Amino acid sequence: MKTQTVNGVDLAFVDQGLGRPVVLVHGFPLDHTMWNAQIDALSANYRVIVPDLRGFGQSGITHGTVTMQQFADDLAGLLDAVEVEEPVVLCGLSMGGYVALQFWQRHGSRLAGLILCDTRAVTDSPDVATARLETARRVLRKGPAPLVVGMMPKLFAPSTAEDRPELVDSLRRVMLNAAPKGIAAAARGMARRPDMVASLAEIDCPTLVFVGEHDAISTPDEMRAIARAIPRARFVEIAGSGHMSPMESPAEVNAAILEFLARV
Ligand code: MLT
Repeated sequence: MKTQTVNGVDLAFVDQGLGRPVVLVHGFPLDHTMWNAQIDALSANYRVIVPDLRGFGQSGITHGTVTMQQFADDLAGLLDAVEVEEPVVLCGLSMGGYVALQFWQRHGSRLAGLILCDTRAVTDSPDVATARLETARRVLRKGPAPLVVGMMPKLFAPSTAEDRPELVDSLRRVMLNAAPKGIAAAARGMARRPDMVASLAEIDCPTLVFVGEHDAISTPDEMRAIARAIPRARFVEIAGSGHMSPMESPAEVNAAILEFLARV
């Protein structure tokens, strides 16, 4: 991995391949490795840039709160640092999708296309926001284990959990190794993220929206509604997958992304 100092923090990132830049943004509390299958497939024809967001993986940590806007500004700063001037295709899963929507809002002229995977446009309800603040406090006191126990059952389709325990274990290990201060800062940032539902109609770049058929966190119905609200969006449901569709069904997800990239 490479490292660049951006907005006062060291960001670690993969920068692989040549061609139109494609940026892949991980979910919570994960790191760039969730995109390993996409890095391999896309970097044959594209320049694939895959950061660990601040607070995660091998990147530096910020205490307190890291907003989705800050993560988006970090991505813009990273693109400056690696001298990417042409518009990019930005792809984010779940929390990475919250970041992608903020990137669109703040740095939209840098986008050639947007890919929203297994994510949401609504803000948190007051109860969910309060629970996130409690999660932040608990993780700082006890480490990531209780959060991981709570999240694991929601991440994969039942068949993935049964048939591919090694995949499930690999993600569990990433989550258990995540830094408590990084997790807490992002949880607080998600709790105060803006509602983007009313803005979806203004997204004017080509957009791909995809979701796992069994996603329990961002459901197919909710994502179909996101795709309907975005004027130039295409919707793809990934059969047999849950929330972690890029890991669970890499061939189908890669095919959907490659088909989209060929048209952007
Ligand atoms: C994620 O996968 O990034 C999280 O489920 C997002 C969230 O907690 O809202």
